[in-house]
Amino acid sequence: MADEILEIKKLNKSYDDITALSDFSISLKKGEILGLLGPNGAGKTTLISILSGTVKDFTGSVTFKGKNLFSNRKLKNHLGIVPQDMAFYEELNAVDNLLFWGGLYDIPSGKLKKRAAELLEIMELKERAKEPIKNFSGGMKRRLNVAIGLIHEPELLLLDEPTVGIDVHAKVKLLEIIRNVGEKGTSIIFTTHQLMEAEEICSRIVIMDKGAILANGTLDELIKIVGEKELVDIAGDFPAHRIAEILKKIKDVDILSVTDNLANLTLDNTDRIPSLLELFFKNDIKVSDLKIKSPNLETVFLKLTGRSLRD
Ligand SMILES: Nc1ncnc2c1ncn2[C@@H]1O[C@H](COP(=O)(O)OP(=O)(O)O)[C@@H](O)[C@H]1O
Ligand SMILES: [Mg+2]
Repeated sequence: MADEILEIKKLNKSYDDITALSDFSISLKKGEILGLLGPNGAGKTTLISILSGTVKDFTGSVTFKGKNLFSNRKLKNHLGIVPQDMAFYEELNAVDNLLFWGGLYDIPSGKLKKRAAELLEIMELKERAKEPIKNFSGGMKRRLNVAIGLIHEPELLLLDEPTVGIDVHAKVKLLEIIRNVGEKGTSIIFTTHQLMEAEEICSRIVIMDKGAILANGTLDELIKIVGEKELVDIAGDFPAHRIAEILKKIKDVDILSVTDNLANLTLDNTDRIPSLLELFFKNDIKVSDLKIKSPNLETVFLKLTGRSLRD
């Protein structure tokens, strides 16, 4: 389709006997912020690395604005890559780091300097621009990392877990900056293992695990996978198999996950909770806590994988 900026088709990548990507296909429209949500080891970095050209020996195709990304070297200049592991010259200051990385592209020097100054302003690093990076906080480094990815005004920005290792305040600020970059028209692929981030800034979310896509849609569309149900978390003193046995016998209960001392399920109607508790009591299952929540991405992930994203 004409407004599709990126089309990824059937990417497969293995490292020896580990499958990192399995028939992975997605497309991205211009101006979209696509969240790629998956636990550690899901294959997020492998995908970003294939797109940025640092991982090879894969099968499948990627077209960027209708052209093969891998056979048109110049196309790569339209991509901005913000790797999970940051790479700076720690002794250099923020401006010099930006000028160094920007210098790798064919940008006239006056324009490059102007762009660096603009980005330092956007990233709220202007006041600290002349200090060596080694003095920077984690949040400041992450913001500089994003600035480096944007130095050549790419049409597509690839962010690989850009908020890892920073405090909540720094994270909120960075997410806001990324949202603003998206609103100005840059298309973004944003990987994360944190549900809240995906819920907050992505216009569309792809849930992946073990190299494969489990779901792809807007937040509302994904939540419909769980249906119009209430999510119930039950904690107590019970072995997994005992509570599973009992829950399985009850109609309208959908078990999302069961471990020792914790069960997550969905119920059509919370009116059923008193009778549920009575049944536990009769079967000598000790419940210490019961929480009712509205379905969110966590519920969707549980439903799709039987595991919590945090596991
Ligand atoms: N260089 C590598 N050599 C061997 N296995 C790798 C390598 N890179 C990644 N993997 C494996 O591929 C899978 C996907 O990893 P990765 O793409 O880093 O996932 P994510 O970024 O979602 O955590 C994991 O099982 C990981 O251990
Ligand atoms: Mg990763």
